[in-house]
Amino acid sequence: MSKLTNQSLLERRLAVLPKGLGVAYPVFAEKAQNTEIWDVEGNRYIDFVGGISVLNTGHNHPKVTARVREQLDKFTHTAAQIVSYESYVSLAEKLCELAPISGDKKAVFFTTGAEAVENTIKIAKASTGRHGVISFSGGWHGRTHMCMGLTGKVIPYKNNFGPMPSSIYHAMFPAPELGITEEQALESIEMIFQSSIHPSDVAAMIIEPVQGEGGFHQVTPSFAKALRAICDEHGIVLIFDEVQTCFGRTGTLFATEQLGVEPDLMTSAKSLAGGYPLSAVVGRADIMDAPQAGGLGGTYAGNPLGCVAALAVIEVIEEEGLLERSKQIGKTIADFLTNLNSNKIGNIRHKGAMLAFDLVNADGNPDAEATAKLRADAFEKGLLLASCGRHGNAIRVMVPLTVSNEVLQEGLDIIKQVL
Ligand SMILES: Cc1ncc(COP(=O)(O)O)c(C=O)c1O
Repeated sequence: MSKLTNQSLLERRLAVLPKGLGVAYPVFAEKAQNTEIWDVEGNRYIDFVGGISVLNTGHNHPKVTARVREQLDKFTHTAAQIVSYESYVSLAEKLCELAPISGDKKAVFFTTGAEAVENTIKIAKASTGRHGVISFSGGWHGRTHMCMGLTGKVIPYKNNFGPMPSSIYHAMFPAPELGITEEQALESIEMIFQSSIHPSDVAAMIIEPVQGEGGFHQVTPSFAKALRAICDEHGIVLIFDEVQTCFGRTGTLFATEQLGVEPDLMTSAKSLAGGYPLSAVVGRADIMDAPQAGGLGGTYAGNPLGCVAALAVIEVIEEEGLLERSKQIGKTIADFLTNLNSNKIGNIRHKGAMLAFDLVNADGNPDAEATAKLRADAFEKGLLLASCGRHGNAIRVMVPLTVSNEVLQEGLDIIKQVL
């Protein structure tokens, strides 16, 4: 067989994969370790994307990999609703212990982030007997139909895919850096109640503690408190979507811990299982118990490989002090970018290592073109970066929290060079 090249694989990809499945880089992975990926031609890349925030514990963490190998030799699938297993129960116990929600809790597992989000809405509907859902502009919750409806960004996620699921209303997400105040955001919820749906028909309100795809804009403790009060007043289930923010990315296991407010339900996924497809919903036991038996689940939901991986990830975060490391990494990158004193860099924002910076033009306006160029130039020098934000002008850093200081610095130096 002829040797694999990136170009030959690109041509094969083009022939058989639909255009809707975009790809950021024209290279194909051969192997990866911690914060580095090597392509099929042996080129090395520093990975500041981390599989889109999935690899807080790095590529192939030895402990996670060892646990998965052990499990591979035992069994890989029974369907948790047919024959369950200890790791599923252990992980549920662990998440109930760790989730920042007081009182009795329950947890259930799925495969993707979107599935977890879908199920929070199902649980909230079953628990309240209501149909309406409020989500937020710029929010991103996944690619299934319900999640697409909840998502607050049309292109490319909703365009051509309508009609959207009904009874979803978008409030404004407060982001002073985008000129949207908390007062305006709260007024927009009031407007929804006045003009679109009575609060007594609203089952759930869902928000990301830090918007991911939307640009790493942060919910403040005061806004979270205001949402909690609205939900309490009207009997609405408050859901925090922690698919991207969970498992140490923001400097705490869950970003919720920094808000001083408890949601009723929360999702987690991505770094939960260190690269294995697993997602979770954790929440108040009385709400979680609302759906009838058989109403929740999925063929692969809570796969045993994912469950043992997640249990290992929890140990690694603790043993390697990754929450503290997350804070250090965020500060190191923010200080580095600030000290560059570049007029191309606009707002820099971070919660722990969940950091984004905007690229702006000479007038201080969003510069999506410069953002795309920075990514392309960084790639040429061996650094993988992702963008995000409503104007496509933010670079988001999702580097593994296990990154060494040397590799982190090497990546930052590339950003400096290409700026
Ligand atoms: C906040 C949030 N919710 C939901 C999802 C959807 O997760 P998945 O792509 O695993 O379905 C994502 C994915 O990026 C996300 O960031």
